[in-house]
Amino acid sequence: MNIHTYEKVWLIAALVLIVGFIATVTYGSVGLGIAMIDDSEETVEPGELGEDERFADPRVEQVGENEYEAYVVAQTFMFSPDPIEVPAGSEVTFYVTSRDVIHSFSVAGTNINTMVIPGEVATMTVEFDEPGEYGVVCNEYCGSGHHNMEGQLHVVE
Ligand code: CUA
Repeated sequence: MNIHTYEKVWLIAALVLIVGFIATVTYGSVGLGIAMIDDSEETVEPGELGEDERFADPRVEQVGENEYEAYVVAQTFMFSPDPIEVPAGSEVTFYVTSRDVIHSFSVAGTNINTMVIPGEVATMTVEFDEPGEYGVVCNEYCGSGHHNMEGQLHVVE
């Protein structure tokens, strides 16, 4: 009898932990003053980024009162644009793709961390509340210059 009760307690405790972890991963805050809303992926032709209206000219574009879209290209061994400049108090949807090999788009000190695969567009929407400066780094080994592949993300007043 007692053993069964203990087993139940442990089972419930384990379930609570698991649900808690999932909730943390799904709803956890991304970083100081930054909240991720949503992410997804679509496709693009990596050899023709120069003709792609989104990626021919990597940039941050205002699309609403406090809404922006950032088109970011990763390539050996840099990110464009650099720095990526977004206003504080804004909601930014990032579209990130690679011109060559697999990279990552990872903003140091936040949970913004996505693999950047040639042919795919990594998409994520992020809220920036506070001004700040962040380093953008590549976490996927992409060649001899991998460890020097960095950029800047500036959240400005
Ligand atoms: Cu790009 Cu490592």
